[in-house]
Amino acid sequence: MGRGERYFIGMNKWGHDASACLLTRSPGRPLGIEIFLKERLTRKKKAKGPLEPALLPIRGKTDPARSAYAENSYLGRPDAIEARLAARHPSYFDQVRELGLEPFYSRFNRDIGFVSHHRCHALAVAAISPYRKSLVLVIDGAGNSVDDFDDDDGELVEFPRPANARARVGKFMPSEWCSVYLQDGPRVTCVAKEWQYESLDERGRPLPPTISLGNLFAEASRHIFNSPMDA
Ligand SMILES: [Fe+2]
Repeated sequence: MGRGERYFIGMNKWGHDASACLLTRSPGRPLGIEIFLKERLTRKKKAKGPLEPALLPIRGKTDPARSAYAENSYLGRPDAIEARLAARHPSYFDQVRELGLEPFYSRFNRDIGFVSHHRCHALAVAAISPYRKSLVLVIDGAGNSVDDFDDDDGELVEFPRPANARARVGKFMPSEWCSVYLQDGPRVTCVAKEWQYESLDERGRPLPPTISLGNLFAEASRHIFNSPMDA
C-alpha cells in the first residue's frame, strides 16, 4: 500500500465465475489492474459460491479508508443473498468478521454500491474501449431482475417494469435481456432496455414468455457442449 493510492474493488459474488477486480490508482503511475478469479485460486472450474478466496488477497493489498466498493451477482442482489444466508446460518457473518473481510460486505459497509448486471458489462467494455465514443449492445440469457434494482436507479426509472408483466412465473422474475448504452469516455448511459417476462392477455390468460437472444445462445450451447454456460 503506497502513499496516496486509491483502490477500486468490483465484486461478482455468488453466481457462476465468482471473481473480483482491484484497480489501484497511484500518483504518477499507470492504473494497476488485478483480477482474482475464484476458479484460478481454488482450481475448480467455474467456481461459484462464497467469494472469500478472491477477497483475501485484496484485503492485504488495500486500505478500506481509501477504497471504493461495488458489487453484483448473477443470482440477485448480493446484500439480499447474504441476508438470507445469515438467516439460515447465524454464524455466517462471524466468519466474515474472523477473516477481516467486513469492508467487502454491505452488512458492515453501507457504502458498497450495487451495479446492475448489464451496466457491469457496459462499464467493462467502456474501460477497455479504444474509442472515445461508441454504442454498446448487451444481450444476455438473463441479467438482473427488476426487483434487484434500487428504486431510484436511473435505468429502472427510465425503463420501468412492463405494465403487463407478471410479478413472478415460477422462479422467474422479469429480468434484463437486452440493453443499449452510449459510451462517452468512461461514462455509459443506458438508452434502451428490454425486459424478458411472461405477460397476460386482455382476458388475464398467460401469454408465452418473451425469449431472449441470449437464451437462444444458451440453448444452442446446451445442445453442443451439454451445458448452457460453456460456449
Ligand atoms: Fe452477463
